[in-house]
Amino acid sequence: MIHAYGRNRADPNGTRFFFLSVILPVVQSLGSAKAPSEPRQQIQFVLRFLGPFYHDGMYHFFYQYNPHGPAFGTGKLSWGHSISGDLVNWAFLGTALDPTSPFDADGCWSGSATVLPDGRPVILYTGRDTNTVQVQNVAFPKDPSDPLLREWHKPSCNPVIPQPADVTGNNFRDPSTAWLGRDGLWRFAVAAEVNGVGSTLIYRGADFVHWERNAAPLHASPEVPALECPDLFPVAERGTEGLDTSANGPGVRRVLKLSKMADEDYYMVGWYDDAADTFVPAEEERGGDVTKWRRIDHGHLFGAKSFFDARKKRRVLWAWVDETDGHSDDVAKGWTGIQSFPRALWLDNDGKQLVQWPVEEIETLRRKQVTLLGAVVGSGGLQEIAGIETLQADVEVAFEIPNLEEAEQLDPKWLQDPRKLCAEKGASVQGRVGPFGLIVMASGDLQEQTTIFFRVFKHDDAYKVLMCMDLTRSSTKEGVYKPVYAGFVDVDVEKDRSISLRTLIDHSVIESFGGGGRTCITARVYPEHVATCSSHLYLFNNGSDSVKVSKIEAWDLGTASVNLEDVSLPILTNVPEQGQAQP
Ligand SMILES: *[C@@H]1O[C@H](CO)[C@@H](O)[C@H](O)[C@H]1NC(C)=O
Repeated sequence: MIHAYGRNRADPNGTRFFFLSVILPVVQSLGSAKAPSEPRQQIQFVLRFLGPFYHDGMYHFFYQYNPHGPAFGTGKLSWGHSISGDLVNWAFLGTALDPTSPFDADGCWSGSATVLPDGRPVILYTGRDTNTVQVQNVAFPKDPSDPLLREWHKPSCNPVIPQPADVTGNNFRDPSTAWLGRDGLWRFAVAAEVNGVGSTLIYRGADFVHWERNAAPLHASPEVPALECPDLFPVAERGTEGLDTSANGPGVRRVLKLSKMADEDYYMVGWYDDAADTFVPAEEERGGDVTKWRRIDHGHLFGAKSFFDARKKRRVLWAWVDETDGHSDDVAKGWTGIQSFPRALWLDNDGKQLVQWPVEEIETLRRKQVTLLGAVVGSGGLQEIAGIETLQADVEVAFEIPNLEEAEQLDPKWLQDPRKLCAEKGASVQGRVGPFGLIVMASGDLQEQTTIFFRVFKHDDAYKVLMCMDLTRSSTKEGVYKPVYAGFVDVDVEKDRSISLRTLIDHSVIESFGGGGRTCITARVYPEHVATCSSHLYLFNNGSDSVKVSKIEAWDLGTASVNLEDVSLPILTNVPEQGQAQP
């Protein structure tokens, strides 16, 4: 399985410069005007993004790209390649890898790039060979002095790692970015189903061609046979700066991120020992079953990958956000799947959870702004945020919670199933402290609306904050997936007495960051009213206590250039340095 898909490049009108932001490009070939539900900021395209990296003043982004059509399965996958000077505007460089060799004839699947200490990048990727067997391959730049790194060479010694005999289900894929151990050997992680068990294997080698497997897997999850897209990266115990993927030693923890096939991304913070190639989780109590780990995002976001941005000393994570409408919609528009906005991430002070925040460059798209201070939204209240265009918007709100004592009691059975809790206690079910939050992409009559809200519960002697995104009324269209997404927000609401929410709206893509980026929910929505009417944005409160909105700031977002085929250059011009914005 793979999620890929792409565009029909045979259409000469095909290039659409959309949007932006994030990563991936894809060239749109719609002959008609773009539908209002199409995101403008993200990159369109395709699938899972593979090895992003920073090289010589430029960000490179690779992604699974299907030149033959928008569905997985029509034709074999290539790697698309786009570059950017600012992570916002992108130029499309064509394909970097195509399925032209015996070791990748059935498709160039996921992989990663590693930047060597001398600055040269190298790619490890999964090929499906002529017998559709998944194997690991290497590719090097044909001309390392080409600043755009357009052409890649796949040496004939590939595959560098054939499929091991104990791999079952033909699940052996997604090599990670490599890191250097203190013994001078490179290592990378790759997902493998080993005798029916979802495993993360470590390979060691000196030259990216000869690899030796560590006998013990780094991780094994008997409950989940097929895990994908492993990422193992260091985070500093203190502060928000990112670390090079090879960083190790005192003050450094490591994050193991795994994707449960086609579904959800999970992570665990811990310690990695590069002598034994073992990983010790910081939250042992969550056990070996990845589905008990923390989530990168509680919504529809998958296959996240991070890279170290040496230019701004930060770790940046991106992920694939696939469509949730029907296959015929994909065919009609000619592409499927986009990338999320890039997010900076770092370790929270608790040493256990990650904080994610849209990279500061997104703020260069901010245009008209409205600000509201000290609004009080009473029980049952609804307050419109007017004055900006809300189909492409960035909204930051801080809710004050003066009175927690009234909070409803949480039945412990809900702790394992926040989605069910949100489904049962939705935005229209009156609570005490909450539900309060935002209504986005709302039609004038509120027939269509998507809500993002919090609800605070009492649990033992403490409080639990639930964050929900409810899509059940997001569209009147049939055949669209309209779930409720949810997660708890791990913040000390008793101490803070407030909770923040930032929501980025980009047509069909809604990305929300609760509690300063500790809980993230991303969703696709396809409201029908946007074809003919404008959308509205509201604050609401259906708790019995009023809620004070100490501050709300909202901006409309401009449209970035995405997948320009002319590489000449606003795209390549570096943006001025700025301080890292923090929630
Ligand atoms: C708030 O509750 C009222 C009454 O149940 C309901 O009509 C309204 O839709 C609710 N608001 C939201 C955003 O669900």
